[in-house]
Formats: sequence, structure tokens, C-alpha cells
Amino acid sequence: MLTPTPFSLFCALLLCLPLAVVFTITTPTTTVSPAAADDKPPSTLRTKLHSSTPRNPLPKDDHTLLRLAARVNPNPAHPHQKIAFLFLTTTPLPFAPLWELFFNPIDGGRKIRGNKNRFNIYIHADPTRAYDPPFTGVFAGRVIHSKPTNRHTPTLASAARRLLAHALLHDPANAVFALLSPSCIPLHSFDFTYQTLTRSGESFIEILANETGARDRWAARGEDAMLPEVRLEEDFRIGSQFWSLTRSHARMVVADRTIWRKFNRTCVREDTCYPEENYFPTLIHMLDPRGATSATLTHVDWRGSHGGHPRMYGADEVGPELINELRNGRPRYGDEEGLMKTNGSDGSVLSVRRDPFLFARKFPPEAVGPLMDIAAEAILKD
Ligand SMILES: *[C@@H]1O[C@H](CO)[C@@H](O)[C@H](O)[C@H]1NC(C)=O
Ligand SMILES: *[C@@H]1O[C@H](CO)[C@@H](O)[C@H](O)[C@H]1NC(C)=O
Ligand SMILES: *[C@@H]1O[C@H](CO)[C@@H](O)[C@H](O)[C@H]1NC(C)=O
Repeated sequence: MLTPTPFSLFCALLLCLPLAVVFTITTPTTTVSPAAADDKPPSTLRTKLHSSTPRNPLPKDDHTLLRLAARVNPNPAHPHQKIAFLFLTTTPLPFAPLWELFFNPIDGGRKIRGNKNRFNIYIHADPTRAYDPPFTGVFAGRVIHSKPTNRHTPTLASAARRLLAHALLHDPANAVFALLSPSCIPLHSFDFTYQTLTRSGESFIEILANETGARDRWAARGEDAMLPEVRLEEDFRIGSQFWSLTRSHARMVVADRTIWRKFNRTCVREDTCYPEENYFPTLIHMLDPRGATSATLTHVDWRGSHGGHPRMYGADEVGPELINELRNGRPRYGDEEGLMKTNGSDGSVLSVRRDPFLFARKFPPEAVGPLMDIAAEAILKD
């Protein structure tokens, strides 16, 4: 359960009120109207996320939604690129106050409005869960039509595809699509994050061949169930659930039916069933192997992991040192040959690739206080 400090509560309150208004005006369509949601009594928390009528409803049926999204222009000539931040959650967002500052930085008590036209937020929130506190501020009214999600099933990957479809259809300016979880935090300022993701024009998605356990994951739906479309060595890949995709890769994902049909099967073995970590790397590897940088920009610590979950940092570990350490890490690149940055027509090797981590996980809800204490100085400054 989230126990916000008085400071974070104050920040949330301070920031949320004007923003709810701003977003009602500037970002219509596809999402629940915040005004309508706020009118209802708290007892209907669960339903109010999904029951009000969006102004421009998108199909609720996945097949129709994805088919529609597959028809968008993958490369619209848009002068102002935006980043679509896709939050996949089953809980309230414990770091909402930090994200609020990330999206709407404050300079000397004055809110800087420069980021307003550079991002959109979309939330997939399992409708069978309660969200208390509800999504407010920059997150108000951003929940898309969501369906139940469970680990060890294809539903998490389905939810990510649904997020991509909504974001593609909602705004042609969405050029980069970054998937995030409620335990993720930003490691840099919005500006730094925006420049890194938009300037490269690449997808960042970890694509690993031959990982330990790959065979069992491949066979989780039954021996040879993935054949003939997805062969173990040639096609099947593993990678972090958290990626950032270009618009053309996002469209590739929603347009795919052949490979998804395989990954959307029910697993016969739960303990090796991780479609959300296999489907996206496999698909990009199969359709556009050279089009992505094989690395995730979401830092995670697998030392001391248990039960398939990476290490959760303690609230008492949060400090400028930890943030620095995470920022200074070097991503693991899947294709170690594609790692060297070259320039010049002679293709001479210049340096080893080293993209900055932009996000990190996992942090517990009680870390929100310590994170807010160092946000301005150590996290959102660069
Ligand atoms: C995977 O590893 C096995 C043995 O370690 C090797 O024979 C095979 O070529 C590798 N496959 C790929 C795709 O790297
Ligand atoms: C995925 O599988 C579920 C359960 O079998 C099914 O209801 C759904 O329509 C499938 N989704 C797609 C996009 O094929
Ligand atoms: C690579 O680019 C840098 C900066 O543009 C330049 O200084 C350097 O000489 C180039 N190196 C090669 C080998 O072309």
C-alpha cells in the first residue's frame, strides 16, 4: 500500500489540479473523461475507470482495434514528434508525484510548460483491480479500454499491443512508444529522455539468442507448438519486457497476426510461460533484425532476484549515489557485433556503444518519499 509523505502529497495536489484541466482540453479521444470520472462517488472506483463514454470511442474488440491500428501511416511527416508513455499496471502508480515533476518540471516555483506538446500518456489498468488512490494529475483520464492481465499468460503482451494500438490511433505525432511498469522510475530529465529517444530514430529492445531456458520457454505451449512459424534457434528470442519502439515497429506489432497467433496460445507449462518477454523480441528479430538496437534502456538488477522477479531496491537505499550508479551502467547488447559505433566510409571502429539508461526498476511504493527528496537535484536534472 502506498503511504505518501506529506511532501509528495503536497506536490501531487499542487500539480494535479491545473493539469486535470489542461488534459481535459488538450487530449480528447480514446480515454475516459476525467470530469465524468470525478463526478462519481468513491464507491464506484472500479467501474469509473471504464464506464464513462469517451468522445471518440475506439473498438473494444481487440481484433477490430488492431486491424484499425495497422492501417495508420507508419511515417507521417509530423514536425513535432511526441513520445507515447505506455503504463502497464494492475495497481495505482506509486511514483505518480515523481512522473508529474518529470512531465511538468518546476523551475524556481514556476511550472515550465515546454513539454506539453512532446508526450502522451496511456494507461492499461486491469479492470478487475481497484485503483485507490485513482489516477490523477497528468494521469487523469488516460486509461484505455483495458482487460484482465495475469503473469504466465499472453495477457500482458496483449495489453502492451492494446496500448500500442490506442497510441497509434490517438495521435499521428506519436513517434516513439515506451512501455513502463508501476515500479519504474525515470533516471533523467524529460528533455534528456526526449532527445535520446527521438534523435536516435531507433527502437531499443533487448533481443537475446540462446539464453538459458530458451528451449523451455519456446516449448511452454507444447512440444513443437510454435512450429513451423517460430523455430527455436533461428527465430525465437528473449528480452526485457520493457522496450521503446519506433512508430514503424509499433505498427508492425499491431499488424502481426501470424506470429501472435502462436504466442497467444495458452501455455501448458506455466513456469516457463513469459510471452511478454518473448513475443516482441522474436517478432522484431524476424521482421526487421537490423532495424533495432538490441538493448533495453530500462535498468534492472538481476543480482539477488527471486521467483523470476528482479531485485527490488529498499527505500533506504535511495540516494544520489544509487541514481548515479544506475545512470552509469552500460546496457547489455544482444548482438555484440552490432555494438560498435562506426563512422567514416572506411567503417573504422570508433567506440563501443553505450546508450544511457533512461528508466529503472524495481522500486517499492515507500521509496516515493526518498525519491521526491532527491528528484530535483539528482534525477530530473540534466
Ligand atoms: C546456441 O548454443 C549452441 C550450443 O551452446 C550452439 O550450438 C548454437 O549454435 C547456438 N545458437 C545460436 C543461434 O547462437
Ligand atoms: C488471444 O487469445 C484469446 C484467448 O484465446 C482470444 O480471446 C483473443 O481473441 C486472442 N487475441 C487475438 C488478438 O488474437
Ligand atoms: C568520426 O567522427 C568524428 C566526429 O565527427 C571525427 O572527429 C573523427 O575523425 C571520425 N573518425 C573517423 C575514423 O572517421
